[in-house]
Amino acid sequence: MAQKHHTAHHGKKHEPDKEWEPKIVGFLCNWCSYAGADLCGVSRFQYPTNIRLVRVMCSTRVSPHLVLDVFEAGADGILIGGCHLNDCHYMTGNFHTEKRVELMKRLLKEAGIDEGRLRLEWVSASEGEKFSKVVTEFTEGIQKLGPSKVRSDDMMKAKVSAADDASQTFRLKALVGKEFNLLSKGNAYGEEVDAEKLTGVIDVATQDEFERALILELARIRPMSVKQLGMVMDVPTDKILRHIVLLRQNSKIAMEHPEGFTPVYKTIAIGGEQ
Ligand code: FES
Repeated sequence: MAQKHHTAHHGKKHEPDKEWEPKIVGFLCNWCSYAGADLCGVSRFQYPTNIRLVRVMCSTRVSPHLVLDVFEAGADGILIGGCHLNDCHYMTGNFHTEKRVELMKRLLKEAGIDEGRLRLEWVSASEGEKFSKVVTEFTEGIQKLGPSKVRSDDMMKAKVSAADDASQTFRLKALVGKEFNLLSKGNAYGEEVDAEKLTGVIDVATQDEFERALILELARIRPMSVKQLGMVMDVPTDKILRHIVLLRQNSKIAMEHPEGFTPVYKTIAIGGEQ
């Protein structure tokens, strides 16, 4: 397809054609990538006009919640740009970014969004040409993937919303927030932490938190039985039941048991009202 280009901030915009054009959001850190994008414009390297750039002080300011929110709003792709490792203005900021992006990818996978829709790139202030290449390549990749279905598919919408809720749970925030320090400095007793084991722990925690959040999301729309939840979510019923027990203990879900009928579960609205 004919690709529109602009020369960074100085390019002349063409009228949008009737063909689908991907909507891409780029979060760039102030100190390296945004300066790289600026240099790209000044040097007149070209890149597609589909990307909207947002300047953040450090790439680590881009939270999983923000990324999932932007996907929920209908973005087709998200690019995160930061300084090269060891060059972050805030010392270890981008090492934490790497860990956060790994969590985002785990959650995108759970939500059924192709991980290729999210890309992390290190672009320095002197890499204007690299910036142009990265944006062009990424846009072409998104064009191949086609439009995001988040806004047109209700189940996907519920899944992205559940992924967003999961990303904000204390458990995942604490695990991923400490991941880099645990791997680089060891645990509170100064003991080395096994990277593979930690990855396994985060994988399991992510899946559990996502499934619980999805149960709450679906049972908020309409009360459902364990069997129904299992079928809709494609998760074994014994696992659903374990999640339900925990959600009931935490007063997040209530059981309704009409006589002669299978019990159904309904999410308790915040504030305690059902
Ligand atoms: S300031 Fe650029 S990644 Fe932290």
